[in-house]
Amino acid sequence: MNGQQFQDEVQYFNCQMGEVIEQKMQRCSNEIIHDALSYIQDTGGKRLRPILCLLSAEAVGGSREKAMTTAIAIELLHNASLVHDDIIDDNYVRRKSPSNPAMYGEKKAIVIGDFLFGISCEMLAKCGVPEVVGLVSSAVSDIAMGEYLEFSLRTLQETTEQSYLEVATLKTASTFMASAEAGAMLGGGSEAEIDNFRNYGKNVGIAFQIQDDILDICGDPAKTGKPVGLDIKNGERTILVIHALNHSERSEREYISEIMTGKRELDSFDIDRMRELFIKAGSIDYALQLSNKLVMGAKSSIAGLKESEAKSKLQYITDLTAERIKNQVLDVIIQSANHLYTH
Ligand code: FPP
Ligand code: MG
Repeated sequence: MNGQQFQDEVQYFNCQMGEVIEQKMQRCSNEIIHDALSYIQDTGGKRLRPILCLLSAEAVGGSREKAMTTAIAIELLHNASLVHDDIIDDNYVRRKSPSNPAMYGEKKAIVIGDFLFGISCEMLAKCGVPEVVGLVSSAVSDIAMGEYLEFSLRTLQETTEQSYLEVATLKTASTFMASAEAGAMLGGGSEAEIDNFRNYGKNVGIAFQIQDDILDICGDPAKTGKPVGLDIKNGERTILVIHALNHSERSEREYISEIMTGKRELDSFDIDRMRELFIKAGSIDYALQLSNKLVMGAKSSIAGLKESEAKSKLQYITDLTAERIKNQVLDVIIQSANHLYTH
């Protein structure tokens, strides 16, 4: 698989989901339908989860058609959770466009999230397999648990790498796990294959969250669609913050704590300084290595499957998630090294 083939997959899925959206729009005239559905159509997204679901079904010898309504359900669920997340995080930009709350205000955004979640349930019911309905539904409660757990880790001391991984598994990886597992189930995979796909989804999902943390500070806003340093501004305890707190000098630790607990008014120099501290403590390197280990774990989970086009596409997707950050990170480290050298 190459980049173009991945784009073809995205386009194929978007067409299928587009038809469902069009039908829904034709059947009802309520304004929310237009606002919610045109939002998810227009702003796009990587569509990684539904593509994993379709390819997992194919990789165990089934057809992608059987997994389509579940793939759409999971994409709608993911979008519903992002609409609510953008309210919680006061996030005004998503996928290079105004976020849903920025477009419609918070009250409407709450209801738009609920509405998308409702159509997601409608689509999921169409898969006709109670076990799949069960596993995707438990991903919904896992997402909520992950988000809630993140709120309750109030102090920096409470946030360890272990608690971070727990949040990442629940909040982010749960939808990747449900996608891959449901796909394998709908494709008629054996119990062992279904387990392997769940493990694949878990590894890809956590790696994806770690990569997102790295991109927040090293990413190019033109590519990520988000302003730099949003996690820092929101006091999010990313893997970089956790690592840097354990690998920096005392004065630096105090500075990071002040930033992360909102004791200090932030300016753009603080984001640059935090990036330099992450580099100095080796936190970006550490996070990259951790994400690469997970990517390898994902690959080995499905290594035993019979060779197929779907399998090689799934292997490619794990590389693609890692690839998206490599160049951006390198640029930032070089710039930062030059800055440290000249000051
Ligand atoms: C993004 O995290 C947020 C999520 C993946 C899940 C958000 C979950 C909820 C709001 C609760 C449950 C809602 C439903 C409908 C089940 P992030 O803020 O780290 O990532 P970002 O940088 O993309 O915003
Ligand atoms: Mg967010």
